[in-house]
Amino acid sequence: MRIAWGISGAGHLLKESIEVMETLSGKHEVKVFLSRAGEEVARMYGVLEQIGDFPIVRESKQGFAFPPCGAFNLKRFDVFVISPATSNTVAKIRLGIADSLLSCCASQALKSKVPLILVPTDSKHIVETRAPNGQVFMIYPRKVDLEHLEALRDEGVIILEHPKEVPRTLEAAKEGVRRVIKLD
Ligand SMILES: Cc1cc2nc3c(=O)[nH]c(=O)nc-3n(C[C@H](O)[C@H](O)[C@H](O)COP(=O)(O)O)c2cc1C
Repeated sequence: MRIAWGISGAGHLLKESIEVMETLSGKHEVKVFLSRAGEEVARMYGVLEQIGDFPIVRESKQGFAFPPCGAFNLKRFDVFVISPATSNTVAKIRLGIADSLLSCCASQALKSKVPLILVPTDSKHIVETRAPNGQVFMIYPRKVDLEHLEALRDEGVIILEHPKEVPRTLEAAKEGVRRVIKLD
């Protein structure tokens, strides 16, 4: 499969997402779409070099129109995964805003019927996470964050709790289980 993998500016589930990307790259083509914040946060968590091993589109090298998003209109990818997905990027996608690399790619993917999988950082009422220095702390996502996820689910977007669920979701899609990934 040709997988476009978006990484937004989230520390939560970042290392876990990269682990899954590395596993998938053995069997699939994986291209990374890295938000500007994603680049900064990955540097803080010490994983930017690891991400740089993949073919990559960096928002920091883009202007305002994001030409690489056209690849979704031209069906150059079979699926678009954003993991981890910040509450910022999720909100933009839900509301139809397309003014950042990832929200623009997601918008084009949805408008071109390319399946979209999101692994949001704010997916439940309480999330335990880790700062770059290793300190553990809790975040309490807002009602609006959770409402965005429900609305996106209703639109056919696949919402997963953890990146480790991505491979079996892709596998199911490949086998034509259209109720797992709504292709039409
Ligand atoms: C160290 C660090 C970790 C962060 N982790 C998260 C996170 O887990 N979830 C989240 O929604 N935002 C997180 N943020 C905030 C986002 O980076 C910020 O909202 C940014 O504007 C998101 O841009 P993007 O959605 O285009 O990547 C974090 C910021 C920093 C500095």
